[in-house]
Amino acid sequence: MDLGLQGRVAVVAAASEGLGYAAARALAAEGARLAICSRRADAIERAARSIGEATGAEVLAVTADVSRAQDVARLVEAVDRRYGQVDVLVTNAGGPRVGTFFELSDADWQAAFDLLVMSVVRMVRGFVPLMRKTGRGGSILALTSYSLKEPISGLMLSNTMRAALAGLLKTLSQELGGEGIRVNVIVQGRFDTERVRELDRIRAQREGITPEQVVRRYADQIALRRYGHPDELARVIAFLASDAASYVTGAALTIDGGLVKGLL
Ligand SMILES: NC(=O)c1ccc[n+]([C@@H]2O[C@H](COP(=O)([O-])OP(=O)(O)OC[C@H]3O[C@@H](n4cnc5c(N)ncnc54)[C@H](OP(=O)(O)O)[C@@H]3O)[C@@H](O)[C@H]2O)c1
Repeated sequence: MDLGLQGRVAVVAAASEGLGYAAARALAAEGARLAICSRRADAIERAARSIGEATGAEVLAVTADVSRAQDVARLVEAVDRRYGQVDVLVTNAGGPRVGTFFELSDADWQAAFDLLVMSVVRMVRGFVPLMRKTGRGGSILALTSYSLKEPISGLMLSNTMRAALAGLLKTLSQELGGEGIRVNVIVQGRFDTERVRELDRIRAQREGITPEQVVRRYADQIALRRYGHPDELARVIAFLASDAASYVTGAALTIDGGLVKGLL
């Protein structure tokens, strides 16, 4: 299927590795022109080079921490200067601090709010004006977590902030739909990335078992009996970003190999 993304401009946040990187590469492979960001200058430059070499796409790399207002403003400015408009925005960030309720301070809560909620607020506020310039609407996709569907033990901050995002994004889909701007939520299960390897190491340490045993235990709860590969998420993101998904908005799409057991 031709997704019609040729020449479209896609911004992918937190994309030097993991799920953001895979999403950016998939969009580039479909012909999109990219802007990607992350905090480490060397890592994001390396990612841009590798995507450019693999796909031939134009890639703008910006060093930016999405939890900081001034960095998001700089990212928006850089994209405006280079491309002047935006078709696709994929919001993403690193994972918040691990911890149960009494292990977390006010500063931890504030940091998680800035990282997971305010980053999306600020990116949407900054990039929607550039989407309006295309005259053909746009697509906003927010990476969240399956903690939005069922709380993950020991991840109080993720469990709380992802739920807030669900409210924000559903409301945005209503407010922006009239302009042809679609807003959808990606509810990802467990994918093999550095973040998940780190979480599995922490859990193994807490429970006195090996990381391999943690992986096996999770995999046994997944219908497909394995973690996902980031490219398996990225292909769905490319589809939802494109006009092929022109009637999909306000949806929270679970991509988890059958991990979540709820009916909805
Ligand atoms: N992997 C999964 O299975 C899974 C499941 C559920 C939810 N999630 C969530 O999905 C998100 C991405 O996960 P991942 O597995 O891809 O993580 P990852 O492999 O650790 O990659 C995180 C990426 O985000 C960048 N980043 C981190 N903090 C940032 C910030 N403040 N501003 C800008 N960029 C930042 C990192 O680059 P720099 O270090 O250069 O900034 C890196 O490119 C996380 O929020 C995670 O909690 C992941």
